[in-house]
Formats: sequence, C-alpha cells, structure tokens
Amino acid sequence: MTTDFSAETATAAVVDSFARASDPRLRELLSGLVRHLHDFVREVEPTRAEWEQAIAFLTATGQKCDDTRQEFIMLSDVLGVSMLVEEVNDRKEAAATDSTVLGPFHMVASPPRALGDSIDLTGSGEPCLVTGRVVSVDGTPLPGATLDVWQADDHGFYDVQQPDEQPRGNGRGLFTADAEGRFWFRSCVPSPYPIPTDGPVGALLAATGRHPYRPAHVHFIVTAEGHRPVTTHIFVAGSDYLESDAVFAVRESLVQEFTQVDAPERAAACGLPNPFRQARFDIVLQPEPSRSSN
Ligand code: BEZ
Ligand code: FE
Repeated sequence: MTTDFSAETATAAVVDSFARASDPRLRELLSGLVRHLHDFVREVEPTRAEWEQAIAFLTATGQKCDDTRQEFIMLSDVLGVSMLVEEVNDRKEAAATDSTVLGPFHMVASPPRALGDSIDLTGSGEPCLVTGRVVSVDGTPLPGATLDVWQADDHGFYDVQQPDEQPRGNGRGLFTADAEGRFWFRSCVPSPYPIPTDGPVGALLAATGRHPYRPAHVHFIVTAEGHRPVTTHIFVAGSDYLESDAVFAVRESLVQEFTQVDAPERAAACGLPNPFRQARFDIVLQPEPSRSSN
C-alpha cells in the first residue's frame, strides 16, 4: 500500500512519521516545524522555480559561513527570529537586565584584560569609559562576575572582519568584576554600522528595500556563579537607527547616555584625555533556580 499523501493528508503523514522518536521534545519540535512549513506551502503556493530559489538561497547562506562569518545567525537576526527566541525565553524577574541578540561576531575568545584596560587597541575613535556594577536582583554585589565585551571599531568593523587591518582581539575584552561587583574599562564610543551585505542576507535586504544598519552598541555576556548569564548590549542614546535596527534588537532599558565628563584628574588617573565620554551600565543577574527546590 502507498502512503496517503495529498495536500490535505500530507501534514498528518509526515507528523506521524516522527511519532516513534523517543525524545518527546524532538517530536514536538519536528511536528511543529512540519505543520507550519506545510501551512506556509498551502498558503503561498510557491512555484517549483520559487522553491528551487529558496533552496539555492539557503545553500548560499550555508556556503557563506566559515570560522569567522556566520550568515545563518544573520538570517535569523534579520528575520526577527533571534529576537523572538529572546522574547519567548524572557521568563525573568522584572529587575534583571534584559537580554538581546548574540549576533554573529562572538566567534573568537575575548582576551582576558585587567579592569581599566582599553579594548580599543588602535585608538580608532572618541575615547570613553564604561563603568558599572554586577549585582543580583536583591542588590547583592557579585564579585568575580565575568564580563565578555565586544564591539566594532569606529569604522563599524569587528576585528575578525579585517584580520589584515586590525590586531586580533581589538574591540574585545574579558573582564572580572572586583570585590564589590564593579567593573570599568576604556574603549571608543561605538558608531552605527551596517551588518555585512556581501552575502545572501545582504541580497535579501537589498531586494526588499531594507537598510542594513544597526544603532551604535557594545555587546556583553555577563556570568556570575549561581546566576543565569545574560547576553545583552548597551546602546548609545541618540544613535541613529535606534528606531529601525536591522535585527530588531533594541530594548529601551538598554539605551544609555555616553555623557561628556570634564574631570582632568579622573581622566589622567584612567589614562583618558580630558574631557571624555562615560557610560554607566549596571547589570542585574537573576539567581539560578535552586537545584533542591521542586
Ligand atoms: C552585531 O551586532 O554584531 C550583529 C548582530 C546581528 C547581525 C549582524 C551583526
Ligand atoms: Fe555588534
């Protein structure tokens, strides 16, 4: 007997083919994927040529990926899927720092640096100081919290995009908060930049009249013992594209002023010219649920 496979019965046939998968979550994921994909096909009725084009697009997306280029993350980002995954996983206490997308450029380990060091190894832009504290939701400081920080240079490129022009580790640093959970480091004020457009994702944006720009930001992954890590950004208040980030990743709570500070002694103590720009970003982590509680 042949499989009963028509536009009406296709979905049940394929969902049923996964019914014996022993992992219930895998079954749930695959049956959801099949149901939504089939509904998509029934709704838009792609021609064979269009479906071939879609497969060629996905193939090119994979082929564009290498050790320092992640076109699939960018595809997920520009389709709003990365941010939607953040939203549906956002079961946190209100006080905890909001997360946002990881992006495709956290591909290399950040070099460990001492508090106060600069991550701007080339002196590419306007110097700034970033300071803050890592605390738990009840305000308890988290000494020894680690902050993995990365940002593009003043021209909008990450070190991995320009291996012949930027020193490795430029714009990156792994910092450890002090005994009171405080951290501080020097950098340059980030600028808005376009996500890479020389691949299939860029072609998709161009074909649909969308711009590729992201507002100025610095990336953080913050971890502390007994707490849920957070992957987030600090966005520069007043930056262009805050209202139209190409990857939908701006949250109001993450936008911070980079204020001009005129304090010659402090500037000298920090190794900064005077005046300098300063941003403060306090990070609140949520405790991991206790393993013993049910
Ligand atoms: C980034 O901020 O590094 C980024 C995020 C999404 C797509 C491309 C770049
Ligand atoms: Fe970025």
